Amino acid sequence: MRFGLSRLILLLLLPLISLPGCEQPQVEFVFSKKTNELIPEAAKPVKEALVRQFGNPFALTQFPELPTEFGDIPGVVKTVEPTGKDQPLIRFEVTGLTDAYDKLQGLPLEWTSGKGQGQVSRVKEYNFETGMVAVDKSAEIDPQPGDTFLLKCVRLQYGRDLYNRHCMHCHGMSGEGTGPTSRYLNPPPRDFRLGIYKYTSTKPTNKAQVDDLGRTVKEGIAGTYMPSFKLLTDDEVSAIVNYVIWLSIRGETEKKLVDELFLDYSNKAMAERTSKDGGETREEVLEELKDFMEEDFPDTLEFATSSVSDAWEEANLEDALVIPRSARVADTPESRERGRKLYLSEKTKCASCHGPQGRGNGTATQDFWTNPATNEKYPNRGLHDIWGNQLPPRDLHRGIYRGGRRPIDTYRRLFAGIKGTPMPAFGGSLSDEELWDLVNYVMSLPYSENR
Ligand code: HEC
Ligand code: HEC
Repeated sequence: MRFGLSRLILLLLLPLISLPGCEQPQVEFVFSKKTNELIPEAAKPVKEALVRQFGNPFALTQFPELPTEFGDIPGVVKTVEPTGKDQPLIRFEVTGLTDAYDKLQGLPLEWTSGKGQGQVSRVKEYNFETGMVAVDKSAEIDPQPGDTFLLKCVRLQYGRDLYNRHCMHCHGMSGEGTGPTSRYLNPPPRDFRLGIYKYTSTKPTNKAQVDDLGRTVKEGIAGTYMPSFKLLTDDEVSAIVNYVIWLSIRGETEKKLVDELFLDYSNKAMAERTSKDGGETREEVLEELKDFMEEDFPDTLEFATSSVSDAWEEANLEDALVIPRSARVADTPESRERGRKLYLSEKTKCASCHGPQGRGNGTATQDFWTNPATNEKYPNRGLHDIWGNQLPPRDLHRGIYRGGRRPIDTYRRLFAGIKGTPMPAFGGSLSDEELWDLVNYVMSLPYSENR
């Protein structure tokens, strides 16, 4: 029963997505809007590189040096079924997969001994009860009893199935945030592809820790449609988080690649470059692109993936954590009063956003702001996040803390800000005592007399 729903979803999806004659479902990760705005000659290698490095939802791929835990499982061939000449698949019975999850279809199977050593097959069929595996027949491999292999991405695939079952309808198949339920929600489900998370325990420039994402999944985000998944086991949560991070790495790698190409090789750039009198010809631009692809693209790809993976690894080091330098200042009327003064001061400008009374109605909500990504003014008044959504400053009287309601959570929010939003980081400009005074003041507001 455990995987019943995901099977059902898959069955429902199959008729929509499988091409006639293909035995594997052809579901693809979506590409970003910007990728699709590149000229086709530039978009193609970007898309191919992403498929090579990450695969597709039902044929995941891994490459070395990713910080996520894929869970490779070793196995041994026990017997091989005789096959006729025209049979496309070769079937063999395996042992050693006792710890594996029961759905292995689509996984890469890397031969670690025998004729095919070093070759990678894809699991086409797997029968949990009989232990029979089927892969494509090929000249390079010839499984024999005793041959060993590694099944790759087992844990990643487990996370994918749980994600597709619990999260996809809001966060989308590729983590792009536009699942079928998403359009009714405000704030909308997060697009994971920017690799930015709001409620972290880490410093302003760091990504989230694995534990931060785990907490978000377990607790949900108060005051939003992000539900709490308290009924999932710790193991399930960790597998899902692993997959979310992987989707995030894929998305951010794509973004970095496209950012590198966009200025010169978008459809718009091409039109501009070739329209001017005495401008370039299309052939000249393509020639230049070809040189870039041959000389620089491999390094660009390598740098994009490794810098994103490194950033995830760094976020999980002790050093990335925001740890108060001193214990919480006692929550006294004096401390709250010092906090109130700071709150109203020019030094913090809290009131310009949250309002003098903390009701979320500061003057900043009346201004037209500029989108830093495009340098254009937003069509609506008020603050926005980097995903382009309107974002009112919180009404601090409500006592809703999306990043957690412990004093340390609010301390971290003030120290590191809320990433991807205009809520600034104050860790660099305020002392620890000042931060704690502010925590004491802010957390007293829901109980204050002028409520
Ligand atoms: C009913 C819709 C819905 C479902 C289902 C859902 N989410 Fe969310 N999720 C949201 C919304 C809405 C937000 C944005 C909240 C915000 O911006 O404050 C969000 C935000 C997040 C974030 C960002 C947290 C941060 O610190 O920025 C993560 C991670 C996340 N969800 C993971 C998941 C996972 C994993 C699942 C499945 C186990 C899931 N969500 C299921 C709606 C949903
Ligand atoms: C430039 C505008 C701006 C300034 C200045 C600002 N904030 Fe915020 N603040 C926001 C926005 C916007 C949010 C909501 C973010 C979200 O929901 O994603 C927020 C959210 C918060 C939250 C909610 C945290 C949570 O876990 O839900 C607290 C508490 C907070 N701000 C306190 C402060 C304090 C105290 C100051 C001054 C030291 C301050 N803010 C300065 C814009 C601002």
